[in-house]
Amino acid sequence: MSPRADEGRYFFAVWPQPPIRDELAAWSGEIGADKVAKRVPADNLHITLAFLGTLVVSQVEAARRVAAATTWKPTVLELDRIGYWKRSRIIWAGPRQGCEPLSGLAEGLRDGLRRVGFRIDARPFVPHVTLFRKARRRPKWASRMVSWPIEEFCLVCSRLSAEGARYEILDRWSATGDVE
Ligand code: 2AM
Repeated sequence: MSPRADEGRYFFAVWPQPPIRDELAAWSGEIGADKVAKRVPADNLHITLAFLGTLVVSQVEAARRVAAATTWKPTVLELDRIGYWKRSRIIWAGPRQGCEPLSGLAEGLRDGLRRVGFRIDARPFVPHVTLFRKARRRPKWASRMVSWPIEEFCLVCSRLSAEGARYEILDRWSATGDVE
């Protein structure tokens, strides 16, 4: 049995550059969420592409190989809507229109991971940035448009601390080709 990699949980994600992070944080500050809702700190804002969970060392290496073999084109994601998922109690920002290059990246990664034995969520990828957790109600609408140029994705390890999730970016992979 390969040794356990870390106590953390692993996932692939796209992480916003500082100006985009700041726009997203400003947006979440304008949303009328209920008092119980927990606002995600600016530095934790991201879009999950594929969630892997806890891993052993050999699985981390396998996941890195899949990432390196995944080809995709850079894109600009237009985030222009706020959504609320009652079941998971999440308030999120996402695109009204689909974003084929980003969905292609997520599905390409997930397929590659499944081929080497990872069990990945069967539900289709829904691009979203979680802005609040534990929200009890649909928030008051706050209208914005954030144009996020996406040129790389990363492997992240999440560890729980008393203050909440702490994320460490372990590695990054760039897109190949021109913006679509
Ligand atoms: P969320 O933002 O939609 O809650 C790190 O925990 C990231 O992985 C979060 O962005 C979270 O997505 C996602 N995540 C956490 N647990 C997951 C699970 N069991 N299945 C799929 N995604 C998960």
